[in-house]
Amino acid sequence: MTVTIKTPEEQALMRVAGRLTADVLDMIEEYVRPGVTTAELDRICHDYIVDVQGAIPAPLNYRGFPKSICTSVNHVVCHGIPGERRLRAGDMINIDVTVIKDGYHGDSSRIFHVGKPNIRAQRVADVAFEAMWRGIAEVRPGARLGDIGHAIQSFVERQRFSVVREYCGHGIGREFHEDPQVLHYGRPGTGLELEPGMTFTIEPMVNAGGRHVRLLKDGWTVVTRDHSLSAQWEHTILVTESGHEVLTLGARDRE
Ligand code: MF3
Ligand code: CO
Ligand code: CO
Repeated sequence: MTVTIKTPEEQALMRVAGRLTADVLDMIEEYVRPGVTTAELDRICHDYIVDVQGAIPAPLNYRGFPKSICTSVNHVVCHGIPGERRLRAGDMINIDVTVIKDGYHGDSSRIFHVGKPNIRAQRVADVAFEAMWRGIAEVRPGARLGDIGHAIQSFVERQRFSVVREYCGHGIGREFHEDPQVLHYGRPGTGLELEPGMTFTIEPMVNAGGRHVRLLKDGWTVVTRDHSLSAQWEHTILVTESGHEVLTLGARDRE
């Protein structure tokens, strides 16, 4: 395992990439409305990243992924491929954006509710959001990866929801997916010790039903095996001397 420690110069570049990533999510929010297709959302994000930001959408052609963002609706856990599906009121959608700017990656995703939120969707989205923040709160020098996983898993399971095990957070920097793997379950005091200059994502996937998933024949789309709703949020985090910095905060949260 080779975990890269980012220099202050690299941290500055990660800050820029993170901010651009958040800007895309801020930008797309108003387009997430009944009637829009996920392919249209992809196109809008692609053009904004390329033409306005002068950046690169990392998913496009990444290991053969055909689009510039991931769009995961309702029981889709992650890696949904944008297409001709039209969003309807009550749907929930995770939009996952990764941009590359000056060689460095920012990676973040949010849940958006389409029209009036569905009660059950609202609940699982809120639990996933709280779980992500409980994980982030553990990040400081000397803490261990297991502390993050435990904070997330114990909270989610107390709510009688489940944590997906097959996909995890990851180191990030010059590469989209670097070491370490950041599991969203685990035992306190175990795993890699965090050090200033590490950058990684925390991106728990929370299912309203069982934790098991299935991969569709397109080779990308991950769905819940029991077709229960699934929600995910993601931030890119920098470990600092005093704790952490969230690199992908939206404009509202940066104030
Ligand atoms: N953005 C996803 C993550 O959080 C990875 C998507 S890989 C892709 O790690 F190829 F589907 F884009
Ligand atoms: Co990620
Ligand atoms: Co992502």
